[in-house]
Amino acid sequence: MKRLNVIRVLSCCTLVGALIASFQTTLHADPVKIGFVVKQPEEPWFQDEWKFAEQAAKEKNFTVVKIGAENGEKVMSAIDNLASQQAQGFIICVPDVKLGAAVVAKAKVDHLKLMTVDDQLVDGKGTPISSVPHMGISAHEIGKQVGQAIVDEIKKRGWNMNEVGAIRITYEQLPTAHDRVTGATEVLTAAGFPSANIVDAPQAKTDTENAFNAANIALTKNPQFKKWVSFGLNDEAVLGAVRAAEGRGFGSDQMIGVGIGGAQSAINEFNKPNPTGFFGTVLISPKRHGYETSLLMYNWITQNQEPPKLTLTSGKLMNRENLKEIRQEFGL
Ligand code: GLA
Repeated sequence: MKRLNVIRVLSCCTLVGALIASFQTTLHADPVKIGFVVKQPEEPWFQDEWKFAEQAAKEKNFTVVKIGAENGEKVMSAIDNLASQQAQGFIICVPDVKLGAAVVAKAKVDHLKLMTVDDQLVDGKGTPISSVPHMGISAHEIGKQVGQAIVDEIKKRGWNMNEVGAIRITYEQLPTAHDRVTGATEVLTAAGFPSANIVDAPQAKTDTENAFNAANIALTKNPQFKKWVSFGLNDEAVLGAVRAAEGRGFGSDQMIGVGIGGAQSAINEFNKPNPTGFFGTVLISPKRHGYETSLLMYNWITQNQEPPKLTLTSGKLMNRENLKEIRQEFGL
């Protein structure tokens, strides 16, 4: 009798096991489709993220749907579009972090898993939405690396900090931008750079053209400075300041610009035969932000393994001299 019961229990377990296995196979069998939505598709950083997302897709045999969404309306239709294509989830860098609650709600209605990259969503009060898995850069720390690079170069050139102006390209509505420039500012002032010499140049959009316009105003208003440094959210911001300064005759010996990114716009600059005011950049990793986020989403969809809530990646100072070596170190 006892033996019979054991046999019954065992066969029941086998049946349940088989059912679970077949359910899992069904889950795995659906073709995996992941959206990768970015706010500025023309920016080399985002093109690199897409490139690395494609690499993950190739390796794991899933489809990545790349969508550029430059405003809120496009974000909403991108999410609907992904749902109608039967995607199971998406990774997004939003054009405006205040879209946070709307993006979360839309993803939920459309039954799509959601992960953010680069710019973390905020709620109505401006608090980061920590329930959505996010991968971003360690903004404050990387900003400090920018500041340190500028201070080191000022000292190397023997400049008197009291005679140097700083163009701080700002984009205050984006927390990661705020944290980056704050980090840089802290290091500069701690090294003795006068706060009064730091000129804010708010950009209307985070591209080179808008940074150029903002920097031009800063230069016009401050003809007293004959030497400049510049920093901002990314390479595009600093390139805008460097171009504006060049337009007024401040060449590489009168400008120290240090960006953040290290993608094609920075590479082009370093590959010019003569140095420009774009002195350096802190290289960050589009591979981690594109490849790793896609893999995390893939595992979430196929194995129900939720990504870590917060991953912050680091960077490394890169210049004309160590460009190849540092990019190689980052697997680029
Ligand atoms: C923001 C910037 C991009 C890039 C990423 C990196 O989204 O706009 O240029 O620096 O952060 O996370």
